[in-house]
Amino acid sequence: MAEERRIRKVVKSRATVEGAGVHLRRAIGFGPPELYDPFLLLDDFRSDEPEHYRKGFPWHPHRGMETITYVLRGEVEHGDSLGNRGVISPGDVQWMTAGSGIIHQEMPKGDPSGAMYGFQLWANLPAADKMMAPRYRGISAAQIPEVKDGSGATIKVIAGAVNRTTGPVTDVVTQPEYLDVTVPPGVTFSRETPRGHTVFAYVFGGEAMFGPQRDPYSYEAEGAGYFDLKRDALIDDGHLVLFGDGDAVAVTTEAQPVRFLLVSGKPIGEPVAWYGPIVMNTQEELRTAFEELEAGTFIKAGRR
Ligand code: FE2
Repeated sequence: MAEERRIRKVVKSRATVEGAGVHLRRAIGFGPPELYDPFLLLDDFRSDEPEHYRKGFPWHPHRGMETITYVLRGEVEHGDSLGNRGVISPGDVQWMTAGSGIIHQEMPKGDPSGAMYGFQLWANLPAADKMMAPRYRGISAAQIPEVKDGSGATIKVIAGAVNRTTGPVTDVVTQPEYLDVTVPPGVTFSRETPRGHTVFAYVFGGEAMFGPQRDPYSYEAEGAGYFDLKRDALIDDGHLVLFGDGDAVAVTTEAQPVRFLLVSGKPIGEPVAWYGPIVMNTQEELRTAFEELEAGTFIKAGRR
């Protein structure tokens, strides 16, 4: 019988300042990177304060990992060393594989009301792919299929497959599944997930119970301020749920709907040497990357 995944940990995203002074909330990126393997970081950059985001993320390098940017409102202007220039608009996704090296900038512009909403996820690459040729995929909102399931949930499929509907991002080593799920009130949404894969949900609207039972004691507390559950086991905006292993996840709503990212990926299981935007396996490789940046030999492939 299929085993439902239980909650391993609930984390409240934490206020962080990044780039040239962007105020955001970080849900993944603290503590040992093994916990979320193959994912390294999840930033929630929803803001209605242009002062909090407009300094943006000017030209900076990446190597050995992927960044996945999903915009809900407002726009992010970007440019990179492969020669890509453009705008990530509401509903669009940018899936950037840094591989051997990319230098890019990401400048949030917001919408006319000043709102800039979105998320950036970092996924690691295995040693065999860290120095692959960099790859950029810009996916427009219109290319992202939307599926309705039996529970009445609406699922935007960015990567992975729901029933027979496959998302536009394929051919990634860690087999990520990236879904934007909205569940109406008073139903249970369930979804099979490959056993052994890391699975998390990040709630950004409404509230729901995650996991098979109302059992607040299955959560792992991490000290004051880190662990903040509203009421019983209903998990709401700004909280991340990391699931334990199993075959499926279940999400049950009560009076409110819920909207969340549901993300899974195959763990890489390799050592992580990480400094800023560069993620390698060894300190030696990190040192080399920073020496190459210094020497101007960092970019291995693509237009300068
Ligand atoms: Fe970046």
